[in-house]
Amino acid sequence: MKTPIRILGIAGSLRRGSYNRAALRAATELVPEGAILETFELDGIPVFNQDEDRNPPATVAELKRRIREADAILFVTPEYNYSVPGVLKNAIDWASRPYGDSAWNGKPAAIMGASPGTLGTARAQYHLRQILVFLNMLPINQPEVMIGNAAARFDHEGNLTDETTKDFIRQLLQHLVEWTRRLGPP
Ligand SMILES: Cc1cc2nc3c(=O)[nH]c(=O)nc-3n(C[C@H](O)[C@H](O)[C@H](O)COP(=O)(O)O)c2cc1C
Repeated sequence: MKTPIRILGIAGSLRRGSYNRAALRAATELVPEGAILETFELDGIPVFNQDEDRNPPATVAELKRRIREADAILFVTPEYNYSVPGVLKNAIDWASRPYGDSAWNGKPAAIMGASPGTLGTARAQYHLRQILVFLNMLPINQPEVMIGNAAARFDHEGNLTDETTKDFIRQLLQHLVEWTRRLGPP
């Protein structure tokens, strides 16, 4: 039997009723056989200060440890003003430092996101892809999971009810697992 692929899922919202946290929760139920999807919550990560990057707060050290433990990363990003929310960028920045000690380096990744708008975080996702270039991460290209009209796809308890969206998330995770196996150990 193959060793399971460990995916770490990170949603870029702290909001109680967050669609993106709900989408990540849904993803944990849609993960293919042979993989495990665990999550990391970003509340408790302070605002980045480069003076502290060699001696980071405990939550940041924990984030870096969890990223390093994972074989692959799943980013679930909201879109704020056509880009990635500060809360996600802040966590990305912390875990990328100090220079030469980035936890992201060489990690396979997948991206998805949810928005009440029609474009379903498309613009934020392309900004995130640009960030991943500098982080030297290895994102899969497809499927692009852009969950638009989120209010119609989740119920009031934050359960994903839309079957088409579930299929896209299943495919995304399946491709991420195949891609991670293809790349092999770092
Ligand atoms: C500061 C701010 C900027 C936003 N900008 C966008 C945007 O550019 N595009 C978009 O589709 N939605 C935008 N929204 C709406 C978010 O998509 C919506 O609040 C969404 O629910 C946030 O994700 P969450 O539910 O995971 O917290 C913005 C919301 C905020 C608070």
